[in-house]
Amino acid sequence: MEFSIKQGSPEKLKSGCVVVGVFDGGKLSTAAQVLDKAAKHALSDVIERGDMTGKSASTLLLHKLPGVAAERVLLVGLGKASELNHKTSLEILGATFSALNATPAKDATLYIVDEGVGKDAAWVIKQAVFTAAEQAFRADGMKSKPSKPATLKSIAFATLEKPAAALKNVLDQTAATARGMELTKTLGNLPGNICTPSYLAAKALALGKAHKNIKTTVLDEKAMQKLGMGSLLSVTRGSEQPAKLITMEYSGAAKTQKPIVLVGKGITFDSGGISLKPGPEMDEMKYDMCGAASVLGTLQAIAEMGLKLNVVGVIPTCENLPGGKATKPGDIVTSMSGQTVEILNTDAEGRLILCDALTYSKKFNPDTVIDIATLTGACVIALGHVASGMFANEDKLAVELLAAGEQSHDRIWQLPLWEDYQPLLDSNFADMANIGGRAGGTITAACFLARFTKDYRWAHLDIAGTAWKSGKEKGATGRPVPLLTQYLINRAAAK
Ligand code: BES
Ligand code: MN
Ligand code: ZN
Repeated sequence: MEFSIKQGSPEKLKSGCVVVGVFDGGKLSTAAQVLDKAAKHALSDVIERGDMTGKSASTLLLHKLPGVAAERVLLVGLGKASELNHKTSLEILGATFSALNATPAKDATLYIVDEGVGKDAAWVIKQAVFTAAEQAFRADGMKSKPSKPATLKSIAFATLEKPAAALKNVLDQTAATARGMELTKTLGNLPGNICTPSYLAAKALALGKAHKNIKTTVLDEKAMQKLGMGSLLSVTRGSEQPAKLITMEYSGAAKTQKPIVLVGKGITFDSGGISLKPGPEMDEMKYDMCGAASVLGTLQAIAEMGLKLNVVGVIPTCENLPGGKATKPGDIVTSMSGQTVEILNTDAEGRLILCDALTYSKKFNPDTVIDIATLTGACVIALGHVASGMFANEDKLAVELLAAGEQSHDRIWQLPLWEDYQPLLDSNFADMANIGGRAGGTITAACFLARFTKDYRWAHLDIAGTAWKSGKEKGATGRPVPLLTQYLINRAAAK
């Protein structure tokens, strides 16, 4: 999909469809008024007849209007200007692209940036691009007869007045972000029998091949053993698939600049291990590598943008399966940090692979480390499918992440990392247990990780509720690629 920004009069720009807004009560937006005049009041006629009332997210398609260069005109209801908010704006964008995708138009010109649809012009453009990309995304590549690709290939955001120069950059960065999300979604949706740790490693190596400034290296189990990653390796023991530790180093700035390290949980299937999960919806545990997939998607996006920043992606990846060699409840392992862990539940495996990856991350002398993980079912209970959980050991980092979440509409909510929760991880036999009981399950998981991240600025994102959708709409969402890229864009701009 191609995106551009144009300035021009709506009747003059040629395309398969021109989109203009109509407010509640049939009040034409500025662009619609210009179009109406050129089309001998065809729009006001339609409104007078009652076919378009301006109701929020309603649409009406008109064909071949006199005096209009575009083949079609799509009227989109914007509702009451005073009632436009992020939710109604997204509904309007969803309806707009659904209507466009129902036509054979290959390209479209949208006059929505000027109309206050959303917080500001940049916000509207970002969400429009994400909506368009989401609707064009196909998840049925493994069906014997996959559905047809979307016909809509090119979208222009048009304004009557000269658009702000900064919008072009916003658009290009958002398009790169959308392509990153597409990679994340594709990897997330792949089944566990295809998307194995070796498959993720191959994808990371391919990303390194495709971009000169990404260097990928993959460590095998022997190398991890040498590094003392007893915690990570304990998770893979029941699996026939070899575990991998992937690192992708993106160099966009001087070597002396400390990197931001992104650590993504890459459990390509989480059965729970010996602490086996119940059957229903267990298939969804193929999504337990969505943190890893978001790191790949984010690195691809920032490499396409050429962000002037150093970023390292670290992906610990393996399967969590039961078996004769599998780790058992009660087993005690030694992590790379030297701290020992009593594994009371083999289903709390994410923290076991992350803690060694977090210790390993020290070698990059990081400015900041952010881990991304589908870590706890409790996070889905706490925040549902709207916000990802966020923890940070520094307030400034938390504030910056919260802001990036708002800017990209990939929102997060901060939870406490207070010491008061730490005793829940006490063990009689090891330095800590890997679970803290049912209460505050998301927090005790973060507290576990906090014991391995004391030497640097760190944030943890629990994306268990936001990385994929269940039920009829089952599929990966591409989150939190928008959040991460926005944070990195902001960091690059602050340099
Ligand atoms: N990958 C799961 C977390 C998860 C569960 C994400 C359901 C999304 C939906 C994680 O490895 C896990 O199993 N966590 C356990 C931890 C518990 C044993 C302390 C959980 O949340 O039940
Ligand atoms: Mn688990
Ligand atoms: Zn898991």
